[in-house]
Amino acid sequence: MNIATATHTQKSSRQFLRVDDILDRFHHNPAKLIAILQAVQEEYRYLPEPVLSYVATRIKIPRARVFGVATFYSHFSLKPKGKHIIKICDGTACHVNKSGHLLDLIHKKLGLSDKKRTTDDLLFTVEKVSCLGACGLAPVVVIDERVHPQVQTAHLTQLIDELMHEEE
Ligand code: FES
Repeated sequence: MNIATATHTQKSSRQFLRVDDILDRFHHNPAKLIAILQAVQEEYRYLPEPVLSYVATRIKIPRARVFGVATFYSHFSLKPKGKHIIKICDGTACHVNKSGHLLDLIHKKLGLSDKKRTTDDLLFTVEKVSCLGACGLAPVVVIDERVHPQVQTAHLTQLIDELMHEEE
């Protein structure tokens, strides 16, 4: 092996060290593919394509099967997600209570849209979600797993500003 190849291999194996730990935890068992992908997504906040290929090689299953599972479940994301995930509920009760205004506000504030959901600095991802099962609290916003009930635009602005200050 020449020096360039050796350096490249070392770099690659370092890059996948965390994936190797996850694969060890699941004994490289292809039957645990979903759990493996969940753990990888927790680690990276999304499923990077090179990592998916690496997982396929290491657990000896076709790459297409790994990508098939990763794209089948909406829970998985093949695109980078922000550090803070903001979910705006747009189910019927929330919609009637003007969740659309909240979404417009946050899109404008963060320079996002329905197509561009993550800020370039990877700090925020905004997702429109369907009913979260807390309709009595509409409109509902979930930020990093914390549920905020009956959110008004001023309150949402304040919550986002607080997160931005934390990150400064
Ligand atoms: S519609 Fe938003 S929680 Fe049910």
